[in-house]
Amino acid sequence: MMLLLLVPLLLLALARGVWGEREKPTFCGEVTECFTFDLICNSSDYEARLYPPSAWVSTRVNNTYTAAKTTGFWRLFRYIQGWNQLGAKIPMTSPVLTRVDQAAGETQEFTISFLLPAAWQGDPPQPTQPVVFIERFPALPTYVRSFGGWLTDANRGTHIRALDASLGRDARHFDRSWHYSAGYNSPMKLFDRHNEVWRLAWGGLGCAPE
Ligand SMILES: *[C@@H]1O[C@H](CO)[C@@H](O)[C@H](O)[C@H]1NC(C)=O
Ligand SMILES: *[C@@H]1O[C@H](CO)[C@@H](O)[C@H](O)[C@H]1NC(C)=O
Repeated sequence: MMLLLLVPLLLLALARGVWGEREKPTFCGEVTECFTFDLICNSSDYEARLYPPSAWVSTRVNNTYTAAKTTGFWRLFRYIQGWNQLGAKIPMTSPVLTRVDQAAGETQEFTISFLLPAAWQGDPPQPTQPVVFIERFPALPTYVRSFGGWLTDANRGTHIRALDASLGRDARHFDRSWHYSAGYNSPMKLFDRHNEVWRLAWGGLGCAPE
């Protein structure tokens, strides 16, 4: 009896350990769980956030940015709808990340990722689609620029250039070979949409010259 009570409590404690202590961001309103972070500092035009280590389900697609996001979304959506080795239905989370590689100019290979909910972070079921895979990220020291409206290729380009300019102005170091775009809303939501572009910091996170 004690054990039966203890196990769910322990699992809950573990789940809280992953995301529970951090506040859910206000822009994350459409789902129960979001990728939460510690805010290190907030500049006038970007935030420095530290994300904890995390597990994601991902897929790679070669296409234009917008078409790749759509194809990737549906593959990952099938995974959470039960196309996994347990047939488990997994709740939708936020954000949806798209990795854009830029090492030799922007490629057309994009990696789309869904965050696994806390309960599935430790031991997620393997995908049954061969093009879908589980990915583990270390802690991510991240520079973030937020913007409203729709996450189009043009908006992504505008805002990553603006973020790079702000980081350059503040003499911050970051990895220029790739970035993420992060979308927080379903296409059904017409107003108050929230999107972000992310750069990974090199060295310490900060909002002023080192
Ligand atoms: C950072 O500052 C901006 C602009 O003042 C604000 O909109 C945003 O909510 C702040 N971010 C956090 C995480 O508090
Ligand atoms: C995308 O295209 C590149 C270059 O042709 C190739 O190396 C890569 O494997 C392709 N990726 C996918 C997911 O098909």
